[in-house]
Amino acid sequence: MSIKVPEHIAIIMDGNGRWAKERNLPRSAGHYQGTDNVRNIAIKANEMGVKVLTLYAFSTENWKRPIEEVNYLMGLPAIFINKFLKELMEKGIKIESIGDLSAFPDSTRKVLLEAMEKTKNNNNMTLVFAMNYGGRKDIVDGINRYLEDYTSGKVTEKMTEEMFNGYLSTAKYPEIDLMIRTSLDYRLSNFLLWQLSYAELYFTATHWPDFTPEEFEKAVTDFASRSRRFGGLNEN
Ligand code: IPE
Ligand code: IPE
Ligand code: MG
Repeated sequence: MSIKVPEHIAIIMDGNGRWAKERNLPRSAGHYQGTDNVRNIAIKANEMGVKVLTLYAFSTENWKRPIEEVNYLMGLPAIFINKFLKELMEKGIKIESIGDLSAFPDSTRKVLLEAMEKTKNNNNMTLVFAMNYGGRKDIVDGINRYLEDYTSGKVTEKMTEEMFNGYLSTAKYPEIDLMIRTSLDYRLSNFLLWQLSYAELYFTATHWPDFTPEEFEKAVTDFASRSRRFGGLNEN
C-alpha cells in the first residue's frame, strides 16, 4: 500500500548533546554522530519520494554556546560534504541552504558553495541546510527587501501573504507539510515561524543521532494518517 508522502519535511535535529552525555562522550561526539545521521535520513527521505528536506543545523541563537562548540559546529558542513557528496550525487540529491552563510569560516563556505554548484542540476530531492538561520530574522529580512523594492518603485502594491512568501528565504520551496523535532522539547526554537503555520508536527523522544530511517518512516506514516483540514471541514 502506498502512503501519502509529504512534499516538504523540516526537521529540528536536536539532542546531540544529550546523546553524547548519556555515553560519557564530549558534545562534539554527538554532533559528529548526528552529522552521519543526516546522510541516513536524507537517503531515506529521497527514496521515499520527499521533494524537499530542510534541516535545522545552526540557529541564530546557537552563537550563545561556548566558542569551542561553535567552532566545531562551523566545521561540520565540510566534514559532511567531504564524506557524503559522492553518494548524494549518485542519488540525484541537490544541496541548498537558507540562513546567513557570511558568518561561516571561508573554508566551510567554499566547500558548501562548491557542493551547491556541483549538485545544482540534480533533480531528485533538495536537501536544504538551515545554517545561521532564525525565523524572525527571515521575516525581518523579507520586510526589508520588500521596503527596498517598494521605495525604488520596483513594486507598487501593498504586501499580501502570497507576495510575502516570495520575500522569504524559502520562496521557491513548497509549503512544509511535516515538521519533526527529536529529543522531546516541544518548541520551535525560532525555526521556520511563518512557514510552519499549517505544518503537521511530530515530536519524538529519540535523540537525533539515534533517529533511524525506520523511525523517519514511522513519522511519515503518522503524517499520512492525519486529517489536514486547514480550517475547513473533512470531506465525506
Ligand atoms: C542539536 O543538538 C544540534 C544543534 C543545536 C547544533 P544539541 O547540541 O542542541 O543537543 P542538546 O539539546 O544539548 O542535547
Ligand atoms: C534548535 O535546537 C537548533 C538546532 C537544532 C540547530 P537548540 O538545542 O538550539 O534549541 P533550544 O536551545 O533547546 O531551544
Ligand atoms: Mg538542543
